[in-house]
Amino acid sequence: MDFDVIVIGSGPGGYIAAIRCAQLGMKTAIIEKYSALGGTCLNVGCIPSKALLDSSEHYYNAAHSFAQHGIAIKDMQLDFGQMIKRKEEVVGQMTKGVEFLMNKNKITTYIGFGSFVDKNTVKVKSNDGQEQQISAKNIIIATGSKPSSFPSMPIDKKRVISSTEALKLPEVPKHLIVIGAGVIGAELGSVYARLGAKVSFVEFAASMIPTMDSTMGKELQKSMRKLGADFYFSHKVTSVENKGDSVVVRAENNKGGLLELEGDYCLVSVGRRPYTDGLELEKAGLKTDERGRIAVNDHLQTEVSNIYAIGDVIRGAMLAHKAEEEGVFVAETIAGQHPHINYLLIPGVVYTWPEVAAVGYTEEELKTNGTPYKAGTFPFKALGRARASMDTDGLVKVLAHAETDEILGVHMIGARVADMIAEAVVAMEFRAAAEDVGIMSHAHPTYTEAFKEACLAATGNRALNI
Ligand code: FAD
Ligand code: NAI
Repeated sequence: MDFDVIVIGSGPGGYIAAIRCAQLGMKTAIIEKYSALGGTCLNVGCIPSKALLDSSEHYYNAAHSFAQHGIAIKDMQLDFGQMIKRKEEVVGQMTKGVEFLMNKNKITTYIGFGSFVDKNTVKVKSNDGQEQQISAKNIIIATGSKPSSFPSMPIDKKRVISSTEALKLPEVPKHLIVIGAGVIGAELGSVYARLGAKVSFVEFAASMIPTMDSTMGKELQKSMRKLGADFYFSHKVTSVENKGDSVVVRAENNKGGLLELEGDYCLVSVGRRPYTDGLELEKAGLKTDERGRIAVNDHLQTEVSNIYAIGDVIRGAMLAHKAEEEGVFVAETIAGQHPHINYLLIPGVVYTWPEVAAVGYTEEELKTNGTPYKAGTFPFKALGRARASMDTDGLVKVLAHAETDEILGVHMIGARVADMIAEAVVAMEFRAAAEDVGIMSHAHPTYTEAFKEACLAATGNRALNI
């Protein structure tokens, strides 16, 4: 065998798996079909979207709230080209960083398309058509996902776009129609709403971010409305038509009412599908399930015991940090260790402003499971820190077991909650009671006081500042 481990795909799942394998003394190779390493997350996902979210937020604040802070700007202009250029620079720094990490850990990198020859052998076809075969005792599939769509909304990458094109548009749309008000829709919709686009959401479900706790969707919608966004919930899209300079979206609501919207771009953000195209799984004795995912057991092992799969290509949340945890998990499993992942405690974050962050059970799940619970909430507007920064939108909701007081779920919307949710993860990992957090000192004035106060609210209505 040429290697102990071959990793196919260099996203956050694959490159982290490769590093951990190398750290554990395994001779490791990684295969990536694109010349830039880092996968969806670094190239067309987490990092570029956050770069544009940050830039557009600066622009929006400069235009709308600096004056209240006593900062007057004359003749402010948007240089959208520079915004996109800065985003590309950030991506370039990050992908070069992964290259550096591969070299530092003595991981052999193959740029080319990987496909199975048999259960131990992978063929790598480079862009210039050259082919070579490499073999390993273990193979980790980390080939990620691609945007999905429906026949009624074919993505043409010009007027009807996926998140990938939305990250590099040649102009700010005048009217962006977003199909799907989930995570991508909310994030990229807010980028363009902040830059002055009219944004209309057409969503199948009855609210934004429908898989999160329902309070979060309602609160997020309120803040998106302040950006001028329109919402068409409970609508099924029937057709999307590129008319050259514009795009027409037609939909029907659940009462039979018809909707027709005309915009200059339509972002299709209705979810992503696992990506296994061209992998020739069958040559290794593998197949995908009905949803295109690679089936794995609790050890993330496929039905062929030396082949593992991680990240977006398997079941579970399509999140970079979930893929990373699984990368480490598989490396340590191959090394004979007994790692553990607590999937309940993988947080979910939406990087709008205010941000949304959650961990554990939603209130709807607790009701469905019949778990006795109590809820404590605390609004950002009662926080000194939020008043000082004028970030008063949002709240923290803590769900605790009615009898034991153990924290079962934490749902936050507000300034910097993407960072604050880590405290909730730690508390829940150590199985803290709401009162435990409520009696711990939190620096004043900080946004984190909202979590402490919500925990006190859940502990017998003991919040102090409301
Ligand atoms: P990927 O990152 O998709 O990487 C797979 C890699 O495998 C790719 O580079 C691909 O080219 C390569 N590959 C595939 N097939 C082959 C082959 N046969 N041979 C060689 N190479 C191959 N998640 C978060 O946690 N936080 C966020 O803020 C966030 N923001 C996002 C924003 C957007 C716009 C999008 C689209 C996604 C976002 N995500 C975010 C999701 C996150 O990007 C994914 O969950 C994550 O990238 C999955 O990692 P992965 O390693 O499984 O796969
Ligand atoms: P999503 O699953 O978050 O949202 C898709 C939305 O589209 C849902 O609200 C769904 O009800 C709606 N929908 C589905 N079919 C529809 C139809 N026919 N018509 C109208 N609406 C329809 O998926 P999204 O936003 O595409 O993101 C894909 C993945 O990428 C997510 O799973 C997410 O985990 C990941 N991601 C994570 C981010 C983060 O962690 N901050 C940011 C962006 C993406």
